[in-house]
Amino acid sequence: MSQLSTKHLLGIKNLTETDIQLILDTAANFKEVINRPIKKVPSLRDITIANVFFENSTRTRLSFELAEKRLSADVVNFSSSNSSVKKGETLVDTVNNILSMKVDMVVMRHSSPGAPHFLSRNVDANIINAGDGTHEHPTQALLDSFSIKEKLGDVAGKKVAIIGDILHSRVALSNIFCLQKLGAEVMVCGPITLLPKYIASLGVKVELDVKKALQWCDVANVLRIQLERQQIKYFPSLREYSLYYGINKKLLSELDKEIVIMHPGPINRGVELSSDVADSEHSIILEQVQNGVAVRMAVLYLLAGTKG
Ligand code: CP
Repeated sequence: MSQLSTKHLLGIKNLTETDIQLILDTAANFKEVINRPIKKVPSLRDITIANVFFENSTRTRLSFELAEKRLSADVVNFSSSNSSVKKGETLVDTVNNILSMKVDMVVMRHSSPGAPHFLSRNVDANIINAGDGTHEHPTQALLDSFSIKEKLGDVAGKKVAIIGDILHSRVALSNIFCLQKLGAEVMVCGPITLLPKYIASLGVKVELDVKKALQWCDVANVLRIQLERQQIKYFPSLREYSLYYGINKKLLSELDKEIVIMHPGPINRGVELSSDVADSEHSIILEQVQNGVAVRMAVLYLLAGTKG
């Protein structure tokens, strides 16, 4: 079995464990390729991919573009901020116009949860979700699990605490699905106002005390406070958040074990993570970014195999 069960990557929720393992194994092969002096392979030479971004991005957008170029695909980039979306063109019209220029696959980031799912039902191309609002960010979760496996040997049996703004996070939901399918135990931790009411129904542990979460886990995946998605105040001030939930060297030194620190980026330095932790030997944040290219190469390569 060397094919995904789906022709789109819309979320982790709909992937099987076999799909996820296939992506991680394929990514391991591509990681070896991109560490060679010649980093390029001809796998997607006849494929054209559009990166369609309706929301800001640094890591995901560059990582997909590099992954596409390393696979020898032709690449076009679309940013809604300087496009005819500003003149009122719909999402489906925009993407169908791009596809009519013989584009095969669409990587899309959008602020509306479900936008990639809607698109997959209304256009004829492989759709890859690069983050849809507060819903899912599947390639981030895949690269996070790849990075945990690389660092600790396996994901199964590991204890992963996801700490911070769970309520507004697409990374949290995709990570919960991915880690559970791979056999990890998952805890979420944050102020009660930043934890969705339904969260315990997903089978995760819930902890309000960050010290207890850090003492429990093997890996802490620390999330950004997403002020741009917050319409009301969920905590009194960033200073207060940092005092109660910020992770610093002193907190880590009080643990009776070493833990791995992850963050999907961008980091609010001094809020959820101090610089002396973000840049420390505990942190694998830049390894996560590096692994993102290999994981996205795997996703694109495997989805291209579902065409036709
Ligand atoms: N991790 C992540 O999605 O970062 P960007 O928003 O920069 O793509």
